[in-house]
Amino acid sequence: MRVLSGIQPTGRFHWGNYFGAIRQYIELQGEPEGAYYFLANLHALTTVRNRDVLAQNTFDAAVDLLALGLDPNRATLFQQSDVPEVSELCWLLMTGAPMGLLERCHAYKDKTAKGLPASAGLFAYPVLMAADILAFDSDWVPVGEDQVQHIEVCRDLAASFNHHFGETFVMPKAKLLDSSARVPGTDGEKMSKSYGNTLDVFEEPKTLRKQIMRMVTDSRPMEQPKPPETDHLFLLFSLFADDRRREEMAAMYRRGGFGYGEVKKALADAAVEYFAEARDRRHELESRPERVREILGDGAATARKKAAEVLLRAQRACGVK
Ligand code: ADP
Ligand code: TRP
Repeated sequence: MRVLSGIQPTGRFHWGNYFGAIRQYIELQGEPEGAYYFLANLHALTTVRNRDVLAQNTFDAAVDLLALGLDPNRATLFQQSDVPEVSELCWLLMTGAPMGLLERCHAYKDKTAKGLPASAGLFAYPVLMAADILAFDSDWVPVGEDQVQHIEVCRDLAASFNHHFGETFVMPKAKLLDSSARVPGTDGEKMSKSYGNTLDVFEEPKTLRKQIMRMVTDSRPMEQPKPPETDHLFLLFSLFADDRRREEMAAMYRRGGFGYGEVKKALADAAVEYFAEARDRRHELESRPERVREILGDGAATARKKAAEVLLRAQRACGVK
């Protein structure tokens, strides 16, 4: 199976991004037919309109992924904009993309429903995503639930092209990421950049501790036993703890007679320790930006070779080559 997924470089990664997506991408990187992961900077351009911010976010995201264990010997990591074949393929798909299909896609629909102006890029966003996927003959696309609709659009576009011009594209499938990994934020709601309740993977330990100590907790008396399963501090602690430590903590909740300060301290210690190695690797990579650029350059070369082959197949099929 060939695996491919894209990540928008729109800001620093938080714990939700790591446990909900990045960790699972990294687990798939040994797939025998290859794994392609890219920084979807052309998609991000539909929302990030500052050149320095976009360029910096993209570079930071590459460093973060490498520090977290993405191995350039086992996966191809590249920037979307370094593979122009994808944008060319996007146009071929665009000519056969029904307006009605794109009007139903949520990124565009949500924005216009709120009365916000939408660009043609936002409208065509799912078509570029389809080109990303089809350009590499991808079999599996690991994504969160919010992206499943876009994979369906990709399959529709591929099927209709194949039907009209003859077998050209491999039909991809969504590989739904484990949603039990839904990570709560500092306020107990789903952790998300848009809710301002995130804890970042590469936050400085001192700042992270402060953010955790400030977290909201319930106001029941200390003595009262509490069910661990519904408490966001416990759920967050569980992400980092092994079975034994998780069970000890759960037993403490059920007994009662503890303060949330204790739990917060244990959570901060566990999180700092969990990401310590990645933090060291990040510092090391940061001091060698040319090495990161080299990895992205090599990734782009590998990706372009594959995408050029698929683009040519599609161009021949529809009569432009
Ligand atoms: P945000 O909601 O912060 O903008 P994104 O939509 O950019 O995050 O998410 C990128 C990836 O991280 C997606 O695959 C998404 O499913 C995953 N993800 C984001 N937040 C969480 C969370 N709280 N729990 C689990 N996975 C998450
Ligand atoms: N749209 C995806 C997101 O916002 C990112 C993305 C772009 C992507 N191209 C892709 C994901 C291709 C999977 C495959 O999360």
